[in-house]
Amino acid sequence: MTQSIEITRPDDWHVHLRDGPVLRDTVRDISRCFGRAIVMPNLATPVTSVEMASQYRQRIVAQRPPDSSFEPLMTLYLTDRTTRDTVKQASASNLIQAFKLYPAGATTNADAGVRNVESIYPLFEEMATQELPLLIHGEVSDPSVDIFDREAAFIDRHLDHLANSFPELKIVFEHISTTQAVEFMESSPTNVAATITIHHLLYNRNHMLAGGMKSPYYCMPILKGSADQQALIKAATSGSSKYFLGTDSAPHAQSAKEHSGGCAAGAYTAHAAMELYTEVFDAAGALDKLEGFASHFGPSFYGLPRNRDTITLEKKSWLVSDRLSFGDQQLVPIRSGQEIHWSMSDQP
Ligand code: NCD
Ligand code: ZN
Repeated sequence: MTQSIEITRPDDWHVHLRDGPVLRDTVRDISRCFGRAIVMPNLATPVTSVEMASQYRQRIVAQRPPDSSFEPLMTLYLTDRTTRDTVKQASASNLIQAFKLYPAGATTNADAGVRNVESIYPLFEEMATQELPLLIHGEVSDPSVDIFDREAAFIDRHLDHLANSFPELKIVFEHISTTQAVEFMESSPTNVAATITIHHLLYNRNHMLAGGMKSPYYCMPILKGSADQQALIKAATSGSSKYFLGTDSAPHAQSAKEHSGGCAAGAYTAHAAMELYTEVFDAAGALDKLEGFASHFGPSFYGLPRNRDTITLEKKSWLVSDRLSFGDQQLVPIRSGQEIHWSMSDQP
């Protein structure tokens, strides 16, 4: 008999859906199995106001497949010009779920991000008052810091102090990628949680670099070493409610990945995210810990109800297409042209 597992419908607490003609593809993929998703605001023109987020939400909802009840959860992008009033408006709107902090220049579409984290402490105070979570891209963008050390440097220079300064502020340390981040999380207070992507659990920098640079794996935070990967697997499968699912699925057209001017940062996983997480938990002998990580701990942290229906995954292999359509272009997804050992079951 095929092995299978039924879990409460999961949510994705960190995804990039982009905008325009590609929304049809990204929204279809993410709504296959996730009930809700925290939608990142780093569009080419960042989503900085409630009005912009409201319009963006409508464009997403318009692309939902028929019968889908997928719910996009909207976020606002912090800049040096964000005001306390914006935080109050966000809270009053009942639309904005969180604010996202990108250190200026740290990743794709982060040029308008925050130049000096400490200068926006008054905004963090207001977020704590309004009970709006702060989502952090935890890497310094200081060019003198080695790209593999940027997350650890962010903890030392900013996060440790920030988390201790605002015990009432809910903070999500997004897409953690290092042993240092896991160590930080292990001693952090309960107001801090962390998301873990599927690609940081499945891969390390050897997958990206050994035998030739492979652009689908290039993302921020950059994949680290095997010891870091093992620390992340241990954290994700530990059953600790500090860690929950956030794919950071971040599509880029193949032409932007394979570009002589530089490779766009971001890995696309929405086409198979839950299947791949299940593979990792299975390999770690921790299928019993999957539901907490994927479906329970995120809603608890955000103060939202769990999804009421379930999904079923079966241990049955399928082949990922070489290329997926991305608006009028194509992209190369993670696992392109290779097998995945778990499938979503069509059974209700
Ligand atoms: C993301 C993107 O492409 O928007 N890229 C990435 O490498 N993860 C931005 C981000 O989350 O860092
Ligand atoms: Zn991201």
